Amino acid sequence: MPDTLLIVPLAEAHLDDCARIAAQAPDPWSRANLEKAEDGGTHRAFVALQDGTVAGFACFLCTPGNADLQQVVVDEAHRRHGVARQLLQTAFAQLATEGTERILLEARASNFGALALYQRLGFKLLSYRHGMYSHPTENGLLLGLALPGRPAAWSY
Ligand SMILES: CC(C)(COP(=O)(O)OP(=O)(O)OC[C@H]1O[C@@H](n2cnc3c(N)ncnc32)[C@H](O)[C@@H]1OP(=O)(O)O)[C@@H](O)C(=O)NCCC(=O)NCCS
Repeated sequence: MPDTLLIVPLAEAHLDDCARIAAQAPDPWSRANLEKAEDGGTHRAFVALQDGTVAGFACFLCTPGNADLQQVVVDEAHRRHGVARQLLQTAFAQLATEGTERILLEARASNFGALALYQRLGFKLLSYRHGMYSHPTENGLLLGLALPGRPAAWSY
């Protein structure tokens, strides 16, 4: 895990770097999506800074008790150094202090790297969504993670 990684809320100053990194995802986000995530309200977004450089970002849509991980992308130059793991673990801890009890997300069935990351973080498979994705068409996997202190009924 990188020593010099700092996890902070996404700010306007990070938007250009995040937009560049977002383009590296299988389902790239537009800058408008990032601006909405940065805007606050029901969205929460975090960036990982490596020696002051944006190495990755994660965006959530929050509803009472739940946070949907809508996008997480790490710059190709920074991958496989624990950036996503540290970014998400820090984000989850922060969201838990704000009342989030579980994290939900959906991933392409072929996104083996992301699925390995989520499995490592403790996510469990909740459901399949057949033909959910396009370009190419493929199934989506719905995953969930109950955060510490969650109601017993939500343990999975
Ligand atoms: C998925 C992604 C965010 C992972 O970022 P990362 O910073 O490289 O991940 P980490 O280094 O924190 O990986 C933590 C663990 O996850 C697993 N993992 C991550 N990427 C993996 C890959 N490509 N292949 C296999 N396992 C992988 C490994 O267990 C890894 O631990 P290890 O390196 O000690 O073996 C990054 O590959 C990415 O941005 N991909 C494109 C965007 C994307 O697909 N986002 C998810 C949409 S659902």
